Amino acid sequence: MKYVIGNWKMNLGTRESLALVRGVLRALQGKETVPKIIICPSFTALSEVHKLLTRTRIELGAQNAGPDRAGAYTGEIGLAQLEDIGTKYALIGHSERRVVFHEDDALVRSRLTAVMASTLTPILCVGEPIEVRVRQEASTYVTEQLHAALRDQSIPRSKRLIVAYEPVWAIGTGNTPSVLDAVAMHRVIRDVVRQYAHLDDDRFSVVYGGSVDGETAYQFLREAEIDGVLVGGASLRLREFESIIRAATEVLEAQGTV
Ligand code: PGA
Repeated sequence: MKYVIGNWKMNLGTRESLALVRGVLRALQGKETVPKIIICPSFTALSEVHKLLTRTRIELGAQNAGPDRAGAYTGEIGLAQLEDIGTKYALIGHSERRVVFHEDDALVRSRLTAVMASTLTPILCVGEPIEVRVRQEASTYVTEQLHAALRDQSIPRSKRLIVAYEPVWAIGTGNTPSVLDAVAMHRVIRDVVRQYAHLDDDRFSVVYGGSVDGETAYQFLREAEIDGVLVGGASLRLREFESIIRAATEVLEAQGTV
């Protein structure tokens, strides 16, 4: 299985979101093999997009969640609300949350705990800033982020976990790590998740994110170690998002797996 996850960030009104989803659905028509597609629109569009996605092969994700099911958290969206409108996934700890909104490891951890206790599947984002990469300390940095989020975290048997490796310096910049570097970090992440979360390999996936577009998607997706891509800017452009989905489909067809 390969994931193609679209993160629309703080873009598109409800009508534009629906138009883009319709375009993606049209592109999937008649296709037998498709990757697992998850779209994370803005909170304001989630409910309407969910209606359109019912009985389709695209699933709905939120861009953040928690840190609880419900309660006195002005400006936050609770897990009960997300379940109520059919949301199946939630991004947690995206670097824009960590850097711009100063969400620290403790908050990311409590959001993850809340998602773990809900029906949603968490997509936990980790990744190093450029100065850490330059100091060649990226693996340690990412390991610590995972440790902070996963240590003693109780993960129900029915749960899956998706970890997104998104180097901060690759997000929205047009720069990407080499495929070799990305694969190496995916291995580090797998080892840490096995160690801390005691998850069997079939219960977690590791995807790459950061300046993935129609040109670069295939080179990441064809790596066995990389279970998919998390796409920001390029997921807002239908043609480009289509070509990323096509790249994932080609890889799946070549592998003879769906
Ligand atoms: P980008 O964003 O594809 O625009 O680099 C990725 C992300 O932030 O998830």
